[in-house]
Amino acid sequence: MNEHKAQLDLGDEPVELDVLEPTLGLPGIDTRTLRSTAHHVTFDPGFGNTAAARSTITYVDGAKSILLYRGYRIEDLARDCTFLEVAYLLLYGRLPNEAELSAWTADITNHALLNEEMRSFFDAFPRRAHPMAVLSSATNAISTFYDVYRRPTRPSEIDAGARTLIAKLPTVAAWAYKKSIGEPYVYPDNQYSYVENFLRMMFATPLEEFRADPAVVKALNVLLILHADHEMNCSTSTVRGVGSSRANMFTSVAAGMGALWGPLHGGANQSVIEMLQTIHDDPSATIQSTVDRAKDPNDDFRLMGFGHRVYTNLDPRAKVIREFASDVFAAMNTTDPLLEIAQELEQAARADDYFIERNLYPNIDFYSGIIFRALGFPTRMFTVLFAIGRLPGWIAHWMEMNTDPETRIMRPRQIYVGEAERPLPRIEDR
Ligand code: CMC
Repeated sequence: MNEHKAQLDLGDEPVELDVLEPTLGLPGIDTRTLRSTAHHVTFDPGFGNTAAARSTITYVDGAKSILLYRGYRIEDLARDCTFLEVAYLLLYGRLPNEAELSAWTADITNHALLNEEMRSFFDAFPRRAHPMAVLSSATNAISTFYDVYRRPTRPSEIDAGARTLIAKLPTVAAWAYKKSIGEPYVYPDNQYSYVENFLRMMFATPLEEFRADPAVVKALNVLLILHADHEMNCSTSTVRGVGSSRANMFTSVAAGMGALWGPLHGGANQSVIEMLQTIHDDPSATIQSTVDRAKDPNDDFRLMGFGHRVYTNLDPRAKVIREFASDVFAAMNTTDPLLEIAQELEQAARADDYFIERNLYPNIDFYSGIIFRALGFPTRMFTVLFAIGRLPGWIAHWMEMNTDPETRIMRPRQIYVGEAERPLPRIEDR
């Protein structure tokens, strides 16, 4: 058999399918012609075995714990780069030089302000509104101020959309938080870096200026980099799927935020802390009973922050976070009983056959919430922080999808298992 072809035996003539070669990872069998030539479809719920696109952005080797953005190791980027530098890398495919980085940083800084009319948008939400609901609504709402309801076509328009979103999302996030605690909104200030500005808008009040500790700025910078992209995950696939209908970048990203919010995806970071807090507060919820519940097939409870579709080994992002957790606590001169519980829970799960057999390791969300807590963020903001981090990845994928000649509107097939055609009974006969 030709090494670039795959053969499928369906009983009659064998069907020959092209094999697409990757730079890294597994080759893909091209099934695009399968339905028209062999009258079969592929069946893959959750798309665990389906490549949705050829992409140049991010590579994950789940068995070897490797995560690369545009070919660079996540550990190296987290150690040496700023979040905006990594955002540029994801969007434009290469690291900026000094002049490009300073122009890009200035551009983002200069666009952090929201249109003043957006104030009434925040005012309209109830105080108890979850900040993820506010964030995704506001992301759509921002587009109404820039008349971007159509898909942009010129590169300059696309760049402007990317810049607008990356510049304004921290302001939106901080204002959603201020609204929820009944404090006045704090405006961005050009003298601060991206991360410092966000922290200040979150924690300054008219009574007291907020000076961010450099250790906190560094830690948040690293956390945002670690979250910045993860190839075809659920929210990114949502952004690509919505964008494939030629919907604009803002509404595609807002849809991605909805996907991220779910507890099996980015919402897990909030659920992890709630799980650890329950173990801390409730004497009947021990480490062992929590592990046992997660193993029970009759209980839909899962060990939050454990397991991953792609990693069959430790998530490299969790490794970076776990390693710097103690530095953060030392710099903040604080401790957290939940960190100890998390470590014990990890040990108990990793020693248990159920988790060993299924290759279930801690993922990024297992330790990120503990650091977010140490940095002073309330639990309900954790998934919002994930969203700020993931934004450059969503946009990079939207941009790639938008210019890829192989993009088609996302429209999967099905295997219909419902009723065959039947006559419609009259209402008195039903
Ligand atoms: N606790 C207990 N059992 C689990 C867990 C868990 N956290 N994760 C997977 N399993 C079991 C699952 O029950 C199944 O067992 P069996 O073979 O007996 O039916 C087996 O492991 C395979 O699981 P799966 O559900 O088929 O795996 P998946 O690839 O569809 O799901 C996942 C991946 C991340 C949704 C899942 O591991 C999970 O629900 N984890 C907890 C939520 C979480 O931490 N999510 C954050 C993911 S990482 C960051 C992000 O992407 O947002």
